[in-house]
Amino acid sequence: MGQWTRESIRQVIASKFAGRKIIAVSNREPYQHFRSNNRMDCAQPASGLITAVDPIMRASGGVWIAQGSGEADREAVDEWDHARVPPDEPAYTLRRVWLAPELSREYYYGLSNEAIWPVCHMVFRRPQFTERSWQSYRRVNEIFAEAVLQEAGGEAAVVLIQDYHFALLPRILKRHNPKLRVAQFWHIPWPDAGAVRILPWREELLQGLLGNDLLGFQLKEDCAHFFASVAQNARNALGASGGCAAADGHVTTVRAFPISIDFAEHSRRAASKDVDANMRRWLGELGPAPEIVGIGIDRVDYTKGIPERLAALDLLFQEHPEYLGRLVFVQVGVPSRTAIPEYRSLDDEIAAQVSQINGRWAMRGWKPIVFVPRQLDQQTLIALHLMADFCVVSSLHDGMNLVAKEFVGSRIDEDGVLVLSEFAGAARELTDALIVNPFCVYEIAAAMHDAITMAPQERRRRMLGMRAVVAANNVYRWGSELLAALARTDPSHGAHHDRHRERLPEPEENTYARRDAQFV
Ligand code: G6P
Repeated sequence: MGQWTRESIRQVIASKFAGRKIIAVSNREPYQHFRSNNRMDCAQPASGLITAVDPIMRASGGVWIAQGSGEADREAVDEWDHARVPPDEPAYTLRRVWLAPELSREYYYGLSNEAIWPVCHMVFRRPQFTERSWQSYRRVNEIFAEAVLQEAGGEAAVVLIQDYHFALLPRILKRHNPKLRVAQFWHIPWPDAGAVRILPWREELLQGLLGNDLLGFQLKEDCAHFFASVAQNARNALGASGGCAAADGHVTTVRAFPISIDFAEHSRRAASKDVDANMRRWLGELGPAPEIVGIGIDRVDYTKGIPERLAALDLLFQEHPEYLGRLVFVQVGVPSRTAIPEYRSLDDEIAAQVSQINGRWAMRGWKPIVFVPRQLDQQTLIALHLMADFCVVSSLHDGMNLVAKEFVGSRIDEDGVLVLSEFAGAARELTDALIVNPFCVYEIAAAMHDAITMAPQERRRRMLGMRAVVAANNVYRWGSELLAALARTDPSHGAHHDRHRERLPEPEENTYARRDAQFV
């Protein structure tokens, strides 16, 4: 297949799932309603998950079930909690689920983000396990199951579950409606089996996930870790073989589908006039135009390695005083999960570090770090990508990291250097980045220096290589291959589950392992 487009997704749906309703499930909703100047407004939260699943839903015209979180969300739905979206050209239905504040807190902050998130990212943060948050997580999975079952109405609908907030959902769904075709994509890493053992409810979580017909991870190594976890932990599992895991006679196909961006759209936006204007505004904000610009764009999350990156910048100025007065690093830190103390203290830590480094090196109206503590719209982000000499992604562990792919997508000028953590999933594909160990501050500093001093033709060679990879492995490939793989799990498409009990099928060739993109 040459070019993966929205049309590829439409074709897979038309040929494999004709007449079947498609239901997506995620915690975060694709559109939030709010009031501004007495007018009802609607916006899409910035999230890679949302930009990846939205085209599938636009093509299928199904239902997307998610937690209502916008301040005017309740006003915008009908008596079935439905709203048609996108508001300007309605293509599918958003079904909002309302969670009581305490239940939502315990399920989202508690179990999802203080227990599963740190375990999966293995970044040495002590997870918080409480019986209460576990019960809330179970309850919320049941509440979402009710919504899915209602929307499916007993039919053989296709359900696309997103992420770690819903590990129990697939099994509940299959129990109540075995006709459903259920796939789940786990956007974050799957840790090694040893780490999974510390989850007190690992067995139920694994059993829940084994209710899926298809379980997708970012990388092949996530799949391998998942199989090892099943082998060690899930009592009824028949085990794992040939790319499948089986429990209670039900077979789950497990495969890697590295998520991506809409490369063509990104490049198109980067070519627009707006970006020029945004870039000038940005340069104005930075004071006198700096000679060298570095950027970092992240949610403020302890998995992103922001303090390590800033420490590397500090070291760079120590070792290369020639950059003083010439280099500005713009760090965008989007506030995230601030109800969790760990996230709040990281905010404080970063603020203190920025003022310390700026205090140490500032001179004559110049300071080395511009910290932007808010979310920026996509056009501004693209402007930022385009004016950067280098972009640093130093996640300590990251499922994929779409910032890296967006930076590459924006660089229609075929320039700019990416410094990328070897522990971000994106490093498997973007091998032309300067790959660093983010735990090693001097390695990041050395890579920043290499980025600044790299010859223009070398920068161009690397950027062209990375653009070719992201262009080929775009988000439509992700969506099309996920849907096609789900269709192949269907008994009516030949692969019958009962037969799997005796002999599990051979592993799928990972078609993403092209050129220099290796998913090990
Ligand atoms: C990760 C998760 C997504 C999540 C995003 C932002 O990328 O995989 O599911 O939406 O972080 O986090 P939030 O908790 O704000 O949705």
